[in-house]
Amino acid sequence: MDTHGNSITIAALEGPLMGSVRVPGDKSISHRAVLFSAMAQGTSRLSGVLDSDDVRSSVRAVQQLGASVNLEKMADGSLAGGITGWGPAGPKQPDAPIDCGNSGTTSRLLMGILAPWECKVTLTGDDSLQRRPMRRVTTPLVRMGARFYPEDKDTLPLEVCGTKGLRGIEYDSPVASAQVKTAVLLAGVFAQGTTVVTEPAPSRNHTELMLPLYGVSTTAASGMGSVEGPAAMHACEIDVPGDPSSAAFLACAAALVPGSAIQIENVSLNPARIGFLRTLEQMGVDASRRSVGSAGKELSGIISVQYCEKLHGCEVPAEKIASLVDEVPVLSLVAAHARGVTVFRGVEELRLKETDRVAGIIEGLSLLGVNAWMDGNDLYIEGNPDLKVPEGIVFDSKGDHRFAMTWALAGLVGGGAPVQVRGFESVSVSYPGFMEDIRSLVRVS
Ligand code: S3P
Repeated sequence: MDTHGNSITIAALEGPLMGSVRVPGDKSISHRAVLFSAMAQGTSRLSGVLDSDDVRSSVRAVQQLGASVNLEKMADGSLAGGITGWGPAGPKQPDAPIDCGNSGTTSRLLMGILAPWECKVTLTGDDSLQRRPMRRVTTPLVRMGARFYPEDKDTLPLEVCGTKGLRGIEYDSPVASAQVKTAVLLAGVFAQGTTVVTEPAPSRNHTELMLPLYGVSTTAASGMGSVEGPAAMHACEIDVPGDPSSAAFLACAAALVPGSAIQIENVSLNPARIGFLRTLEQMGVDASRRSVGSAGKELSGIISVQYCEKLHGCEVPAEKIASLVDEVPVLSLVAAHARGVTVFRGVEELRLKETDRVAGIIEGLSLLGVNAWMDGNDLYIEGNPDLKVPEGIVFDSKGDHRFAMTWALAGLVGGGAPVQVRGFESVSVSYPGFMEDIRSLVRVS
């Protein structure tokens, strides 16, 4: 692996992927553990927390708002330790804007967290985050009584003007987004009455499952979450399981590299997160999961995946997209190696991620000579079971961590020429040890 400034050259793996690996802590659960602990009274004890740029954005934000964070790096690379929250005193007025970096989760969840307090806080982020839509979060929060300035602006920077008089609402969200749902529910924790969010398809429900550990009463149903306010949040213990979205990269690699058979241990098996396993199965992959425990109400266990010689295309319905929303880029790479056409229906939300992921998939696959196109809101990929990486390909992650890993994988599993990936360093957003983990599984005979 040669590093050229911001781009790296990646050659095909020298052998199959075999054996067991643990992936770092789940990003969504880590953010929530940090943010909810900051809101609670007392010192919460956290372990298994993902150490990545995105989670560090949440840590820095809660420190600016007055929480005391004592997380230390463990031998396995995770963060563990205590966070003492602001509790009923509320967050302190920060003396500078809060920079949420690349993290949509940090910025959107903070809007809900700050809404019920008398404060004026400016939230901003990097260029990518400053392009992402925020009105989807501010609209319901304004209905609850909060204000955002400039009014009606859709993008960061925005000033959150909270108020203690929030009222609970019933919000029928037009998008299946856990970030929107969570922001509204978090404001609802300190609002008067019940706050209910319904959504067109079930998004991840980590918030509804985790808040009761902090003493907040919630309901978690398919496509619906609710919270009873006002509540008092108290400290608790959270052990964060491994991230299925990171595991998906290893699972897809194993499905594509001849002779592979791997187990990924201690991964969250939350059904709202493992839609990618079902898609791999539909493509003919022997992919299974075994639940071996739970961290709070979050199921966790082992994912096993084997190489598949005869991959075939499949159809993913729109109502399943939320359960694999971050995995569409890497699943598209698998689809590119399959016989026949794969269709992901209703992928319009992908255009609003760290980059326009629909455009990124089509552009990246075209470099591989694979035809991919949109028809309405559906993404089509015409696979090629004999796909070999052509000479001289330069992929560009455009600073999007999921593309950095997807295009690196194109080279690793490619069975042809090496590839270059520009902006590979963005893996630090969610999975800094990606390359080391995948290499630890390679068996050279
Ligand atoms: C996340 C929800 C998803 C996902 C993101 C993390 C979360 O976004 O894409 O990576 O932690 O709630 P949306 O809720 O906007 O779909």
